Amino acid sequence: MNVCRTVDEIRAEIASLKSDGKSVALVPTMGALHDGHLRLIREAHEHADEVVVSIFVNPAQFGPNEDFDSYPRELEQDLEKCRKENVSVVFAPNRDDVYDEESFLKIEIGTLNKHMCGGSRPGFFEGILLIVNKLFNITTPDLALFGQKDIQQFQIISRMVMEFNHAVQLKMVPIVRASDGLALSSRNAYLSAEERLTAPGLYRCLTYIEKQIRDGVDEPGLLISHQTSELEAKGFRIDYLGMFSLKTLQPAETLVAGENYILAGAAWLGETRLIDNILIEL
Ligand code: PAJ
Repeated sequence: MNVCRTVDEIRAEIASLKSDGKSVALVPTMGALHDGHLRLIREAHEHADEVVVSIFVNPAQFGPNEDFDSYPRELEQDLEKCRKENVSVVFAPNRDDVYDEESFLKIEIGTLNKHMCGGSRPGFFEGILLIVNKLFNITTPDLALFGQKDIQQFQIISRMVMEFNHAVQLKMVPIVRASDGLALSSRNAYLSAEERLTAPGLYRCLTYIEKQIRDGVDEPGLLISHQTSELEAKGFRIDYLGMFSLKTLQPAETLVAGENYILAGAAWLGETRLIDNILIEL
């Protein structure tokens, strides 16, 4: 497994794979790899000859008061995990190679950015597009894989690929969960033992709402505000909890048969922000 630290190195590496006629799948990550990331890598092997993993804690997607400094960095362990998963190349760029604090350009996102995480983390998805756009241009993958856990990220990246004509196919991989239902996340490492016991409450709440919807509730507003209070009583600070159209990412008050929705929530437990969602195809 080769580890590339510069844009020139990874470009040469990919060119050599492609000249051998190999197809390439890219799995972009910020490291601190867990079974959710590994599921993306395994899925990548199913669809491409060679798997490239990028590992970069992207400064552009952290707000000034967010956890950029404390975000877990475990490169050696990550490389070991990648080796075990038969990853061909890891791109772990030096900061200056892919990030310029003074960069002039950014991609404007519009209404896809208004709600869910876009509503509460200004600049977050612009920062993500900045790096993903670069990664696509640098690695020119045939396929790139992302997790459903960050479904708004997937939808916004899909839009960028479509509108900017990136020649990459995208694949969304289902959420990998711990046995008690908590969605795996590098940030779960921040949870205290007590918070870790409370954390699956977010997913339980989503599954409860999902059941009511599947049983016929088509105006879930009251149900959602009731569940918000229940979560607050358990110690969560709610950022958002709601139903959103999968296509437009706008809040959905009345649900319509034949449409696809995201039931999504984000909530704080102490210093840790958790997100989760369930796709509901009616
Ligand atoms: P990161 O949080 O490291 O996640 C990398 C990829 O793993 C994302 O596509 C994410 O959705 C997926 N993932 C995380 N937890 C998962 C889980 N429990 N089940 C399934 N997939 C999961 O997302 C990012 O990094 C960054 O925004 C990035 C795209 C790398 C740009 O910097």
